[in-house]
Amino acid sequence: MGPSGANGEAEVGSDGPRQKGKATPDTLKVGCIAQVTKDGQPRRAEILSIKETKSGRQFYCNFDNFNKRLDEWVPVTRIDFDQDVEWPSPEKDKQKEAKNKKTATVSKKSQPSKKTQKKVGKREQSVVSEGQTPHPWTDFVDSQNKADGEDKANASLEVGATPNVGPDEMEIDEDETPASAAKKEHAQSFSREQEIEKLRTSGSMTQNPAEISRIRNISKVEFGRYVLFPWYFSPYPEIFGQEDSIFICEFCLSYYGDLKSFTRHRMKCTLQHPPGNEIYRDDFVSFYEIDGRRQRTWCRNLCLLSKMFLDHKTLYYDVDPFMFYVMTTRDDRGSHLIGYFSKEKESADAYNVACILTLPQYQRKGYGRLLIQFSYELSKIEGKLGSPEKPLSDLGLLSYRQYWSENILDLLLGWSETQEKCTIETIATRLAMTTQDVEHTLQALKMQVYHKGEHKIVIPEKLVQQREKSKAKQKRVIDSERIQWKPPVFTAASRTWGW
Ligand code: ACO
Ligand code: ZN
Repeated sequence: MGPSGANGEAEVGSDGPRQKGKATPDTLKVGCIAQVTKDGQPRRAEILSIKETKSGRQFYCNFDNFNKRLDEWVPVTRIDFDQDVEWPSPEKDKQKEAKNKKTATVSKKSQPSKKTQKKVGKREQSVVSEGQTPHPWTDFVDSQNKADGEDKANASLEVGATPNVGPDEMEIDEDETPASAAKKEHAQSFSREQEIEKLRTSGSMTQNPAEISRIRNISKVEFGRYVLFPWYFSPYPEIFGQEDSIFICEFCLSYYGDLKSFTRHRMKCTLQHPPGNEIYRDDFVSFYEIDGRRQRTWCRNLCLLSKMFLDHKTLYYDVDPFMFYVMTTRDDRGSHLIGYFSKEKESADAYNVACILTLPQYQRKGYGRLLIQFSYELSKIEGKLGSPEKPLSDLGLLSYRQYWSENILDLLLGWSETQEKCTIETIATRLAMTTQDVEHTLQALKMQVYHKGEHKIVIPEKLVQQREKSKAKQKRVIDSERIQWKPPVFTAASRTWGW
């Protein structure tokens, strides 16, 4: 790995000395480093890909010390051909060629690797470069503890007992009769493997190996009344990469490469809300529960859409083993998608969330908190302790840490010692969090101390004040009384495709 810039992002072309020389739009090739304008400033950028579009040749650039999210396609006019470019070293070229050959023939299900985990750690620092205000765990904790160091004393609670986990599953609410399900099952079963094989290997929706998926393929999406600018690659049909903009129906999530066919679709499309049961409604949002197996196309479309904003998840086709909990906001035109989380029907690792996403137009408005709260409310109903699937993305980590800290603090501040002894296990049970997540949060907030042979939980005064301030800002929470949900029960067959 090459050296990192000030904000934790790698410098481009840090793989040794390169030959320099002049290039033209025709000779500039993948692997070259050129001077490219970004936000009005010239910057070093590596060319990762080149494509011909209706509006001319475009170059995909990864900029020095910038998060991958800020990679972009640029036209010829943004590249300074008066400056020398750095040519890729021939050795590296050969390696790349060999790798490309390999990736063109191999298509297998990619797994989240150790490499991805490492990357998450690195990107965590880099959110700074995007003008947002993240607080990595250590900064967050430091900021909470620095000012008045050891002024703890607000509460002192003891630690050390066993968790209390209740019974789990109840009955499924079927909206399909067993007979019709069996009939459908039969009709589908012979083609399943073929279908999945086709999806995985046909040029269009191939799960792309690392080299190809470095490159964002869709530059703009028209979605309801919003225009979205994707952050990452998503395996839409390859041909969509040539469009300046694609169109996604905000209700059925079908995708179109041209306005004419999209407009035709909108005249016919009758869907006005996600295709599942509404299990929660308040004045502000609704939640729908959708079974990946029953609504395969819709859920695959949702995964394709969310992949544009999620870098480290690889689920697109095999949606059968998941339930999707989709949050919407209502108006007279229908229920509009804000975000969702998916959840394995059966998680061996006790995860209560697989993927979680707030669409970019709704981010930083408190919706992520609602999604996370909802996932824990479901775990409470199940009588289970849950945790999100790892690795978490940078933004996922920030959001979860904030949620865990706030909720543990609120619980402790309202704790009455006369009711129940406060231990890590009782906190975990009350919040449906794993004891590990509780313990990590307490440690990070420096709320666990060992005093005179005893473990204690203490709440620094500073944290209390900060929580009071942030609570005044926080507008919405899920009203758990309004959730109408019983944990569904699944047969083994309904959980998988069997591949
Ligand atoms: N910078 C700094 N802090 C942030 C940021 C950010 N960009 N985003 C969230 N936070 C922290 C803040 O503490 C925030 O509270 P505050 O606004 O009061 O300071 C808290 O998280 C909650 O923020 P919300 O507004 O409730 O969260 P949002 O609606 O933006 O959703 C989410 C968070 C879902 C992670 C969103 O950023 C997202 O969809 N990102 C892209 C997809 C992704 O990375 N998903 C998580 C993958 S991990 C997994 O799937 C298990
Ligand atoms: Zn539609």
